[in-house]
Amino acid sequence: MDAEQFREFGKAAVDYIADYYETIRDRPVLSNVEPGYLGDLLPKDPPQSGESWRDVLEDVDRIIMPGITHWHSPHFHAYYPTAQSFPSVVGELMSAGFGVVGLSWIASPAMTELEVVMMNWLGRMLGLPEQFLNCSEGPGGGVIQGSASESTYIGLLAAKDKKVRELMETNPSLTEAEIKGKLVAYSSDQSNSSVEKAGLLGSMKMRLLPTNSEGQLVGAALQKALDEDKRAGLIPCYVVANIGTTPTCAFDNLEELGPVCNKENIWLHIDAAYAGSAFICPEYRHLMKGAEMADSFNFNPHKWLLVNFDCSAMWVRDAKYLVEAFNVERIYLKDQHKGLAPEYRHWQIALGRRFRALKLWFVLRIYGVEGLQKHIRGQIALAEYLSDLVKSDNRFELCTCSMGLVTFRLKGEDSLTEKLLEDISKKKELFLVAGHMNHKLVVRYAICSRLTEKRDVDFSWRQIIETAEQIIPTPKKSLTKSDKQIHPVLNINCINPNLEKSK
Ligand SMILES: Cc1ncc(COP(=O)(O)O)c(C=O)c1O
Repeated sequence: MDAEQFREFGKAAVDYIADYYETIRDRPVLSNVEPGYLGDLLPKDPPQSGESWRDVLEDVDRIIMPGITHWHSPHFHAYYPTAQSFPSVVGELMSAGFGVVGLSWIASPAMTELEVVMMNWLGRMLGLPEQFLNCSEGPGGGVIQGSASESTYIGLLAAKDKKVRELMETNPSLTEAEIKGKLVAYSSDQSNSSVEKAGLLGSMKMRLLPTNSEGQLVGAALQKALDEDKRAGLIPCYVVANIGTTPTCAFDNLEELGPVCNKENIWLHIDAAYAGSAFICPEYRHLMKGAEMADSFNFNPHKWLLVNFDCSAMWVRDAKYLVEAFNVERIYLKDQHKGLAPEYRHWQIALGRRFRALKLWFVLRIYGVEGLQKHIRGQIALAEYLSDLVKSDNRFELCTCSMGLVTFRLKGEDSLTEKLLEDISKKKELFLVAGHMNHKLVVRYAICSRLTEKRDVDFSWRQIIETAEQIIPTPKKSLTKSDKQIHPVLNINCINPNLEKSK
């Protein structure tokens, strides 16, 4: 393909994506295909000679699109958001277009240097403690990883290496294998699956500690576990605190966990994968009080900050521990600029690295801090609007509403909520998933797409109550003036559609 054909193909692909976003609201969010559908549509062998890009693009529409789950549909409310924005898509395109790999400064100076500046911008936007920033006097710094899972794992490996070095120095009679066999990591029973996986991959026992009724891990629960393990001859090494848990977006008590970790010389990692983006709004920063006691902090701009997957921001208080744990030198990697810029290959698992800072730069410049704050506040307001709707129907129990995530259930046995979810899924118009709150089954409803508006939440609620109606019919009631309310943040008239329908 020559540059002229690339221009045509690229423009047609951009048009296709733009058209997709202009019609996404009208597409059922879940696809209709059955497992194995694709194998029957593709030849068994690759083509011997090259085909036209027009045929390929047509096949995207014919074969791929029917099997797409529309993550950016305004009716997608499962999991947590995965970010998407046009500036970010163009950033990805340019990154792929340049095709550089930043394994050292000389391998592409702009790549390392833009990443350093972007991590400072982001850190400042969040109000992170200065010690984490590349621009601070100290040894801290930020790096873009591929995922929160990688960041948790990298934190664990660095903590392990640090603990082993320290203990071998103070206790020369202990062997490396003896120490490694006794190390323990801790997080809460609400933590993401990736936290447990980090323990598995890093061969460190991971204890998932009980949380309080709000889903938070508190200092006393951690201290109790540490005391038990120390009495059993084990060595506490790593704690992952959740700032915005996956099930309900609960916040662990950092002001209690931090002092315990610092006193016991345990690496404290903060997993703020989803909720971290909200700290660009100063009114939410109180939820990360205590972060200055952490050794590493991570959040995903690729979740809630309009930067396409993958872009996971990780800061460490002292980058030395990453470099000590991951530094493997070779003659061909030698770079005479050593020391003047971070050698990011020592801060991550892979040798190669993508130019992710470009899309981040595009998003931060084109939206600006105010544009991103508006996005976060708007999504939180929509979640609050849904929670008001849930509260207004006495067949439902509102369980939590935190950031852009609402959890609720049908009152009574779990089987009712299970049936509600099952019946909604069958219609394919909304995508919701289940969760647990205090051992009860709940519906998790996250505001995910940047396209979701009040009318979409109304659409969801209508679907939810129409489905609930088949499970628990309501007695009819006519709409009264008091059923109309003004939503305090959205400043819109919100009429409970359940009542509207029965008018
Ligand atoms: C709290 C939390 N941590 C970690 C993750 C994993 O994120 P990633 O896909 O970037 O590894 C998630 C994903 O939803 C999450 O909610």
